[in-house]
Amino acid sequence: MRALTSIAEMRGWRTQTRGSVALVPTMGALHAGHGRLIDCARQHGASVAVSIFVNPIQFNQDEDYRRYPRTAENDLAFCDARGVDLVFQPPVEEMYPQPQLTFVEVGRVTDYMEGRFRPGHFRGVATAVLKLLQIVQPERAYFGEKDAQQLAVVRRMVKDLNLPVEIVGVPTVREPDGLALSSRNQHLTAAEREIAPRLYQALRAAQHCIAAGEICAEVVKRAAIELLAAESRIRVEYLEVADEDGMQPVERITGPVLVAVAAWLGRTRLIDNVRCEHSTG
Ligand code: PAJ
Repeated sequence: MRALTSIAEMRGWRTQTRGSVALVPTMGALHAGHGRLIDCARQHGASVAVSIFVNPIQFNQDEDYRRYPRTAENDLAFCDARGVDLVFQPPVEEMYPQPQLTFVEVGRVTDYMEGRFRPGHFRGVATAVLKLLQIVQPERAYFGEKDAQQLAVVRRMVKDLNLPVEIVGVPTVREPDGLALSSRNQHLTAAEREIAPRLYQALRAAQHCIAAGEICAEVVKRAAIELLAAESRIRVEYLEVADEDGMQPVERITGPVLVAVAAWLGRTRLIDNVRCEHSTG
């Protein structure tokens, strides 16, 4: 496995690599969720590149950026064990020579949910992802459904900017109790960790409600929020029913939708989502 930090070396590797390249963009602190993305990328027989870059411009709070876990050594061993061909770990100055005057804004899909509560977040994500795609030039890039709105933003950017890359979405990897794997889970206290699976339980309740034929989004949301409200240590930021491509809230559920939640447990913010549709049986 190669580990590179400069863009020039990265481009050199890309030029020498025969066959197709798959990219898995990450911010490190790698866990089995990232592992699933890597495994999917490998399945296509491409050379797999993993980027590890804690992207400062997508964090809203300096505190969140500073306390984001950085586990470089473990991450390299993790990638090596998973058969990754190349790890790209650019320093911040390499990715953002100052001043950086160009940024990517993806409209509409960013209006609600994460986009509404984390102003500037998707501008930072889209800018970093576009840079990584330009630097690595992969045929395919892999993103988790765990961050469903991020996936929709990236898909939209690729479409609008005619980028020659296929975006592949990978289902969310969960703990046995349902909690979606996330680098931020390690910030949870033991007590918070115990109640964290409630997020997924509330989403599952919404899913059942919709499968049973409920078409009113407000009814679905109320049922899920009620479950979360029963636990005073969970502070819900939003719980939304949205269409999958446009990420717009819907009032009537007539096709597949996404039910997405963001909530604070103490100082840690968690997000999760599930895809829901009326059962056909
Ligand atoms: P990061 O949070 O490290 O996540 C990297 C990728 O792993 C994302 O596509 C994310 O959706 C996916 N992922 C995280 N947890 C997952 C889980 N439990 N199951 C499946 N996939 C999961 O998302 C980012 O980094 C950044 O925003 C990035 C895209 C790298 C741009 O900076």
